[in-house]
Amino acid sequence: MKSWIRWVALHGGPGRYLRTRARHGDPLSEILTSSRTGRSPYPPGARIREQGRLVRTPFTLVSADHEVCRKILRDKNFGVTPPDGINMPGPMRRLVRATDLKLASPVEPPSMLVVDPPEHTRYRKLVAQEFTPRAVGRLRDRIGEVTGELLADLAARPNADLIEHFALRLPVAIICEILGVPREKQDFMLELGHAGAPLLDVGIPWRTFRGAVAALRASEEFIEGHIARLRVDPGDNILSELAVNGSLTMPELKATAALVAGAGFETTVNLLGNGMVALHEHPDQLDLLRAEPDRWPNAIEEILRFDSPVQMTFRTALCDTEIADQTIARGETVALLLGAANHDPAVFADPGAFDVSRTNAREHLSFSNGVHVCLGASLARMEGVVALSALYERFPQLRLTDTPERRRLVNLRGYQRIPAAPGLPAASRTA
Ligand code: HEM
Repeated sequence: MKSWIRWVALHGGPGRYLRTRARHGDPLSEILTSSRTGRSPYPPGARIREQGRLVRTPFTLVSADHEVCRKILRDKNFGVTPPDGINMPGPMRRLVRATDLKLASPVEPPSMLVVDPPEHTRYRKLVAQEFTPRAVGRLRDRIGEVTGELLADLAARPNADLIEHFALRLPVAIICEILGVPREKQDFMLELGHAGAPLLDVGIPWRTFRGAVAALRASEEFIEGHIARLRVDPGDNILSELAVNGSLTMPELKATAALVAGAGFETTVNLLGNGMVALHEHPDQLDLLRAEPDRWPNAIEEILRFDSPVQMTFRTALCDTEIADQTIARGETVALLLGAANHDPAVFADPGAFDVSRTNAREHLSFSNGVHVCLGASLARMEGVVALSALYERFPQLRLTDTPERRRLVNLRGYQRIPAAPGLPAASRTA
């Protein structure tokens, strides 16, 4: 009953309202309901930008302007929005607080994603050293090995699903190793991540919400047991270090583990999937990469810009603040459309074109910016370069066999299925 009331307040009510507004042509509502309609978020994003740099809607303030989004993300006068703080009327806010399910979740405090400094600084410092470019550099060989195993598996499949058999497998394997999670638990982690991912959206159906809550419960139970095991038998991994020597309380430790686990594969799978579809749709760009493989790192930036795996985030003004000639009052929330900002023509010439040679592709906001800038950005970039370059080198005849199917999510934008025939691997063609 408690979770149903929470669903009504957070999703049922807002979802109905957004669907009505979307039918009347409100662009933000069109984006927020796009998992149902299957429409692209980029045309409504462009309409929001035409309306202004910072647009006031009855639901929230919103920006699709690159400079405004970047500014707000870097501004100390803005903080992260807890899920019960999205400009809700008082009684609704109280209802959400009263129905707190008290589950370790990547999107609820004390997850670092949704707390402000100084707590944020403390949590982030503890894990940051594991994800610096230098630390991630040490993972390159391991990422290459796992990629090699997955490509060998693909070679044995005349028909494959590039998401299920490749894009999902690499990031989950790597993040499980980073967290000391045994290999045989990878499928379980994937199940939990998939069931929990819709919690980043607004207006999800009751059944989806119920499934996500059940996944959070199962995930919390698993993480608790995993941490207990690591305390008895620690390994050479970050979670063992935090569990044995760290200063985090159990709720903080569980939230950190849940966040790093979920963020570690639910996003990178979309980088790989969105990249494969973009390259399939732009074969000239793939030809260029095959001829000049040094371009892969920039191609990964362009993939992130062109179809961002995370489409939006929110910030709340901590005090009255002036942005883009408007006053944002303390407590007001702004939806920052990262994906749409990546298509801002003021920064990216011809933004709808997919151009792996684009010189400023790296200016995208797909990893956010400011204090919450993605902790796993170096890892995601490396997985992207290693996985995609190896895939196309190994399978020169790779082709899609059916239309790729989108995931029914708004914020985590990617594909559910990419049916493909890998064709003969390069080595056996030349043998
Ligand atoms: C292409 C892949 C990825 C994308 C697009 C992505 C995107 C993002 C974005 C947009 C944020 C910040 C949200 C905000 O400002 O509100 C974020 C934060 C975060 N990401 Fe990633 N991410 C990716 C991969 C990863 C990976 C592989 C990890 C694994 C460690 C990771 C861990 C995190 C963590 C821990 C945070 C919270 C940082 C903080 O609050 O200080 N991400 N990510």
